[in-house]
Amino acid sequence: MQADRLFGLKDVPVPRLLRELREQGSVSSASTVLSVESKRQKLEALDREHVKGCTKCRLCEGRTNTVFGDGDADARLMFIGEGPGFDEDRTGVPFVGRAGQLLDKMIVAMGLDRKDTYICNIVKCRPPNNRDPAADEVVACTPYLHGQIRLVEPAVIVSLGAPASRLMLDTEESIGRLRGRFHDYRYTNAGGDMITIPLMPTYHPAYLLRSPQEKGKTWGDLQMVMQLLGLALPDRA
Ligand code: URA
Repeated sequence: MQADRLFGLKDVPVPRLLRELREQGSVSSASTVLSVESKRQKLEALDREHVKGCTKCRLCEGRTNTVFGDGDADARLMFIGEGPGFDEDRTGVPFVGRAGQLLDKMIVAMGLDRKDTYICNIVKCRPPNNRDPAADEVVACTPYLHGQIRLVEPAVIVSLGAPASRLMLDTEESIGRLRGRFHDYRYTNAGGDMITIPLMPTYHPAYLLRSPQEKGKTWGDLQMVMQLLGLALPDRA
């Protein structure tokens, strides 16, 4: 497969990659203190008590539903998108429209099911006409995303598209330059420990629907994530 050659995956055995990332501090070895049930309950409480009634920015005025997150509270893999679109606003579930259907296929291609992952967005209400969220809207909503990351404590994050990748990495760099390699996402947890989560930026599925010729690059990014998670890579001819 072309993506394999492009990223030289064949030459990087999984244990070596993991060891290197651990040595660089790029893979958290901290074990979570919360049980799965506790994570689930705390996520539900964050949604119910803070997000559902949120009026911290103007996006609340046009929403039908807030769109908090979906999937396994204990997921090893978290996807972060930009913000809800029409279908997500109607249903209250992230990534259920056309882009979501492509994301589901990408997850299946990785050998996983959507319910094995945790999916959320940087803003929880739909921006009008699907415009990019404005800076003040992102600032108002970011504490909810931080809460989700701290509760789920995934082993790997995939940020979908430029807005999510730039927010997570605090950079103005283009997605074309950010994707294709792991970055460190760092935060201090409630116990005061520095947690580092490897983050792979890649193209947003909505962009891939418009530019299908870029799918191979995203597949290469996702195979690096699979390798990090110890998932079986597809056979190469
Ligand atoms: N695009 C996003 O970034 N998030 C969604 O939930 C749906 C489409």
